[in-house]
Amino acid sequence: MKAIDRASLDQWYPIETEADIPYGRTTNRLLGTDLLVIRADDGTVTVLAEGQGLPLPLKRRYGYLWTTLGAPEKDIFAIAEADEPDRRYVPCGAVTVRASGLRIIENFLDMAHFPFVHTDILGSEPHTQVEEYNVEIRRDVDEVWATNCRFFQPQAALSATDGLMTRYIYRVMTPFTTLLYKTCPNSETRWDVICLFVQPLDPDRCRAHPVMYLLDDQSTTASLIQFQQLIFLQDRIILENQRPVLLPMEPRSEIPTRADASSIAYRRWLKEKGVTYGTSLQAA
Ligand SMILES: [Fe+2]
Repeated sequence: MKAIDRASLDQWYPIETEADIPYGRTTNRLLGTDLLVIRADDGTVTVLAEGQGLPLPLKRRYGYLWTTLGAPEKDIFAIAEADEPDRRYVPCGAVTVRASGLRIIENFLDMAHFPFVHTDILGSEPHTQVEEYNVEIRRDVDEVWATNCRFFQPQAALSATDGLMTRYIYRVMTPFTTLLYKTCPNSETRWDVICLFVQPLDPDRCRAHPVMYLLDDQSTTASLIQFQQLIFLQDRIILENQRPVLLPMEPRSEIPTRADASSIAYRRWLKEKGVTYGTSLQAA
């Protein structure tokens, strides 16, 4: 196995939606290691990694099969809303992106790009200002949270009928997984939840697995997925053209603004953990 930092190795990663694992043998990949996925006739799934004799540990959560090449200290994070019976569970399909997984997470946390990348959907000119928000590394749970985020959105969700000052809360659970809570056009007291689980294939190539837990009993599943895919494909164009490709970790390699507070906290948190996979600090 290639040299990978302990912090990236000792995590759970989704490799496929359970429903999409074909019977028989298929290949997959995680952190530069080829995987062989075997689904037996009775449905049992086994995952083998190149160069390792024993099958990898597996978990099933949020409709995905998760595995690890290391020894995670913690279980997969909890998402309380996933258990609420009136939520629409909407897995949006895997998207391969030629970018560092950490860049994908960082882009997900960024509001400043809304008017320019998701024009007339998640943002529009002249409403380009990112209002001040709060960001913290929550030591008790070891997660990064950004709260009190607000942004004016012409079409905040498929179910939105008008422009909306949308509120966001962002949560980064592990270096490669994140979610956001966002104003729900159909409820004044509850939030829509949009998750992004990243499966790093290589330092500069990933599969992104977006999953939503929505309060929307009107829209069809196909239209909800189509809306999310439109947004994510707009992000993919930006992500694949970002330079440098790997996440810069040297101080001041990119000039931060106030809007970047979440990115600064995220990078500090990664550095504290010793995450170098997909960063400029990766050992050659
Ligand atoms: Fe985006």
